[in-house]
Amino acid sequence: MRVYNFSAGPSMLPLPVLEQAQREMLDYNGSGMSITEMSHRSKTFMEVNQEANSLLRELMNIPDNYSVLFVQGGASQQFAAVPLNLLKNGKADYILTGNFASKAYEEGLKYGDMAIAASSKADGYTYIPDVDSIRFRENIDYVHITSNNTIFGTRYTKFPKTSAPLVADMSSNILSEPVDVGQFGLIYAGAQKNIAPAGVTIVIIRKDLLGNASPLCPTMLNYAIQDKNDSLYNTPPCFSIYVAMLVFRWLKSLGGVDAIYELNKQKAAILYDFIDNSDFYSSKVSKSDRSLMNVPFVTPSPELDAAFVAEASKNGLVSLKGHRLVGGMRASIYNAMPIEGVKKLVEFMKKFELENK
Ligand SMILES: Cc1ncc(COP(=O)(O)O)c(C=O)c1O
Repeated sequence: MRVYNFSAGPSMLPLPVLEQAQREMLDYNGSGMSITEMSHRSKTFMEVNQEANSLLRELMNIPDNYSVLFVQGGASQQFAAVPLNLLKNGKADYILTGNFASKAYEEGLKYGDMAIAASSKADGYTYIPDVDSIRFRENIDYVHITSNNTIFGTRYTKFPKTSAPLVADMSSNILSEPVDVGQFGLIYAGAQKNIAPAGVTIVIIRKDLLGNASPLCPTMLNYAIQDKNDSLYNTPPCFSIYVAMLVFRWLKSLGGVDAIYELNKQKAAILYDFIDNSDFYSSKVSKSDRSLMNVPFVTPSPELDAAFVAEASKNGLVSLKGHRLVGGMRASIYNAMPIEGVKKLVEFMKKFELENK
């Protein structure tokens, strides 16, 4: 009955995780109630919070001088939380590689002197600017990047070397490939793609960056307060954190980030190889910057694109419509998308081409 869901987010969760959450819905761990009904101060929930935190640390190999916070408000809230916590000199540089990077920059403008260090906007965000040739300003408090561009289908394969802390929005590729956390001052990510249902947002912050928040920073956005309270300053998104814990266990059981990275590369290669060898389908994204998570592509016409999306849906391949800014199709193939889903999509693409060429 389940379809292959190519939604960009919220997106597929691993089936074993959904099944476990279903089994535990009426009685979590002998408590006689579901995780959604118990106090966030109960020993049972505190253990879930703790396990989710330490599993993420283990999976991403997060050094001890970093704190892991579970906050709310989505990645969009971080567009404001980052400047409110990190600005000391009042200046930061942004690299614009897509819609969300631009939104982060525009939100930042409310709080300080923000500059665009590089942008691929003029070319429809089809590539990532060469990070080695970017010159950042002096005395900036951070450089902000978006590691994977969900709408445009690009990703950084190499990060800029900066003397100021590097801040990355990793919402759409966290845990999909190994990253050296030590390169970053701060990483944030909404959960609803590779981690859990919407609700929790992950913040990984180097500890020396805590404690400098603006006096105007709302208490709930203050990283030092969240850190001091183990992310339990107020009622957290308990269900989302619980599912995150299950997803982290699932990922660990598969062999962790290195293992899923191999699988993600295989999945993306199946799709890109097919597109590259086709004279019916095409992709505008620069080959060297292709995302492993979001694959936009088009047929020869918008009419055929619409027919493709409708026909695919009838075949159990759903949510393939591209973002309105790009059009065409987008296959989001996050960690939880089985390789069979990608193979089925390619089979369908072959059939659609034969019928519509
Ligand atoms: C890269 C990126 N950043 C930010 C966001 C916004 O996230 P949220 O809806 O959690 O605020 C998204 C959502 O798709 C995203 O893909």
